[in-house]
Amino acid sequence: MSTVREMRWQDIDELVDLDRELFGHEAWSQQTWWAELAGRPQRQYRVVTDDHGILGYAGVDCPGDVADVMTIAVQPRGRGSGLATELVTWMRETAAGSGAEALLLEVRADNVAARKLYDRNGFEQISVRRGYYQPEGVDAIIMRALLNGADGGSHE
Ligand SMILES: CC(C)(COP(=O)(O)OP(=O)(O)OC[C@H]1O[C@@H](n2cnc3c(N)ncnc32)[C@H](O)[C@@H]1OP(=O)(O)O)[C@@H](O)C(=O)NCCC(=O)NCCS
Repeated sequence: MSTVREMRWQDIDELVDLDRELFGHEAWSQQTWWAELAGRPQRQYRVVTDDHGILGYAGVDCPGDVADVMTIAVQPRGRGSGLATELVTWMRETAAGSGAEALLLEVRADNVAARKLYDRNGFEQISVRRGYYQPEGVDAIIMRALLNGADGGSHE
């Protein structure tokens, strides 16, 4: 059984190891994790845990009208059971609750699982940054989900 809770300073050592396994050379350092948690309440982080430790985690930055997904990951043993979908829903609700009208993210063009996750959760592609991820030169796809019923249309 898994539980969702706020991320804590005490999680950082485990997160550094997990991030290295899941993101390789793009992983966040210990200093980055400390800085991210110091950014609360504008930045919000959650972890999903089970008896063996952290199963998944996600973070969102909510500075104003536009919020950003900072990170999201699920351990291989927890994948395919909707955990990431739950975390995306939490990020959308958190961003909307902060007053944001849109939630943005960047995803590697070759990350099939993540792109499907976002496609199925209301994100649409709005632009591409060619060769953004180095040294591989993989494109970054920029995606956006509109929140709070924002549709860019009229306000009748
Ligand atoms: C992307 C990731 C977070 C998905 O986690 P997850 O808990 O398995 O996702 P969910 O179970 O909520 O699945 C949601 C949807 O994602 C898609 N998906 C998940 N894993 C997939 C895979 N291996 N291949 C293709 N699609 C996949 C499916 O469309 C799924 O919808 P479905 O249940 O209707 O089939 C996970 O694979 C991961 O942590 N990857 C490494 C880190 C990463 O790339 N993070 C994203 C950075 S932008």
